[in-house]
Amino acid sequence: MEKSLSAQGGAVKFPPMSSNLSGQFPSYRPRRLRRSPALRRLVQETRLSVDQLVLPLFVRFGNKVRQPISSMPGVFQLSLDELVKEAERAYKLGVPAVLLFGIPEKKDTKASGAYAANGIVQKAVRLLKKNFPEMLVVTDVCLCEYMSHGHCGIVHEKHGQVLNDPTLKLLARTATSHAEAGADIIAPSDMMDGRVRAIREALDKDAFSDIPIMSYAAKFSSGYYGPFREAAESTPQFGDRRSYQMNAANSAEAMREVALDIQEGADIVMVKPALAYLDIIYRVKNEFGYPTAAYAVSAEYSMIKAAAANGWIDEKAVTMESLLAMRRAGADILITYSAMQVAEWLREE
Ligand code: PBG
Ligand code: ZN
Repeated sequence: MEKSLSAQGGAVKFPPMSSNLSGQFPSYRPRRLRRSPALRRLVQETRLSVDQLVLPLFVRFGNKVRQPISSMPGVFQLSLDELVKEAERAYKLGVPAVLLFGIPEKKDTKASGAYAANGIVQKAVRLLKKNFPEMLVVTDVCLCEYMSHGHCGIVHEKHGQVLNDPTLKLLARTATSHAEAGADIIAPSDMMDGRVRAIREALDKDAFSDIPIMSYAAKFSSGYYGPFREAAESTPQFGDRRSYQMNAANSAEAMREVALDIQEGADIVMVKPALAYLDIIYRVKNEFGYPTAAYAVSAEYSMIKAAAANGWIDEKAVTMESLLAMRRAGADILITYSAMQVAEWLREE
């Protein structure tokens, strides 16, 4: 059987590059199928649908707080009451899922707030599931927002390294606490080795064997996370994340990361960032065929917003074109801060 090149069936059947075009296909004129909106619609290869969208949301302590994030116009830190309002808007627009990040009141060196039964995310999950039982609540599982030093794992007191195995226990605890609160999908973003297995085993042991894991499988160390760190107040206080997040130069290694996560029990694999890593998305979808998510990260959003605010680009055109590129590359799921806006644009079409 011929191996299809992409999820969207992008295999080029003909004309073969070597053939004499005018001889073999004397009347092939591509513009024929571009003549009218209806024709273009009929032959369109990839599409955007609201069904593919996941909206990240930042939930924080407090009441009646809707704190703008200066580097991400239109994105806010929301207290629980405001979170419900925002989620309701998304729900009414048909966005099927939200992805929660928490900003706790206190941080420490054990990330206690990450796995507290009454932590901010745990409360948010319970509230959202009560109000919108059909909406999927995905929880980001990481420790950086809850650590005083801002790293994604436990830091050795003397050497300052991020310790892998001791971190796994806390990640597993965090994941089960999210599942206990009612989370629909668990999304580990820390990049420790073996975290998917640790989380899968912990969930299974606690009778959450039916809760899927969406792993940030190929997560690169990236300058594109800058605005997010303002939003989540999770900038590392020293050093950087290069000892656990991937080197932007590596593609074969990304395949090994994805293979490992799948072996360890991931149900959905994610590539992050998205637009600068379309080749990775393409390879992941084709080599593994798993449900594949693309995370259009904070700076992808901010750059479009900034250029649009200056009148330099058309926000809708560039946003939709970028998301289509991710679909073309093979992404099934699109995580984007523009999800609500995109849902509105799709309704207008
Ligand atoms: C950290 C985490 C990051 C993002 C989500 N979770 C990146 C980081 O700080 O290294 C980035 C999301 C974005 O930029 O939109 N676990
Ligand atoms: Zn983290």
